[in-house]
Amino acid sequence: MSKVLVVGSINMDLVAQVDQFPRLGETLFGQSFATHHGGKGANQAVAAARLGAEVTMIGRVGDDAFGQELKTSLAAEGINTEWISSSANTASGIAMITLAGSDNAIIVVPGANADLTPADVIAAESAFLAADVVIAQLESPLATIEMAAQLAQRHGKPFILNPAPAMPLSAELLKQITLLTPNEFELSIALGTPENAWQAALQHYPGQILMTAGQDGAWYTNAAGELQQQESFAVHAVDTTGAGDTFNGALAAFWHLGLSEASRLACAAGALSVTRAGAQGGMPTLAELNAFLDGVQGKTGDEK
Ligand code: RIB
Repeated sequence: MSKVLVVGSINMDLVAQVDQFPRLGETLFGQSFATHHGGKGANQAVAAARLGAEVTMIGRVGDDAFGQELKTSLAAEGINTEWISSSANTASGIAMITLAGSDNAIIVVPGANADLTPADVIAAESAFLAADVVIAQLESPLATIEMAAQLAQRHGKPFILNPAPAMPLSAELLKQITLLTPNEFELSIALGTPENAWQAALQHYPGQILMTAGQDGAWYTNAAGELQQQESFAVHAVDTTGAGDTFNGALAAFWHLGLSEASRLACAAGALSVTRAGAQGGMPTLAELNAFLDGVQGKTGDEK
């Protein structure tokens, strides 16, 4: 299993379940409320750790009760939290999530995540040396992510960037990324290309972009520039929050197996993750992933 270094966000998810999303100006009664551990970075770290990867995380929490709980829970998942620091007089990051059916709408308030500086990343340079693969997202300041990309490149480590939430990326950063893992919308924003031009974008960056496509699985081009699809796995979705993070964490954990096999396993892990509530609630262990894959062996097409 790959040694994974995650640079990114840690949030407490405040989740309200409703029958339907409210309209502008409307007040609705919700059915239930729950807090779940989340944040795209923490989610990716947990996904990789559950699958057996050795994971180190660089991040920041606030000096509040959420911060303590979030850091403790990451350590309980077996993640090295040495480089997760606490910002004084600052709230931890939170995400307000409205869940209607299995779909969600999310507002993130970064809190301490906004304090993660390039200096924090430089201070953890030894973690880059120890890693097989580095993965990051965009809920932390862009300058910090750019520093992580630079350090990964300096030490010859593959750098996976999940460009979520969507934002434009500089040509300089794009050059330092080994693999970009956007959905279709994030891809168009990251590259500044029209949304329906994703095939051309994938062919322009052979082997460097893997686009997630929900129920259509994932698309990428192989080294020969040929478009490849990894099909998704059909499951009963309860909560899709964190499915993309599970996919990315699994991709990093299975990085040593190559893009084709890593993306197949990542699609399976992402599918399993939506079958239970909470971003991290449904993330599978390696044993659960293997059992699931054993169950779908031999099934074809829509049965998978
Ligand atoms: O990708 C899902 C995550 O996005 C949630 O856990 C929430 O914290 C937001 O960061």
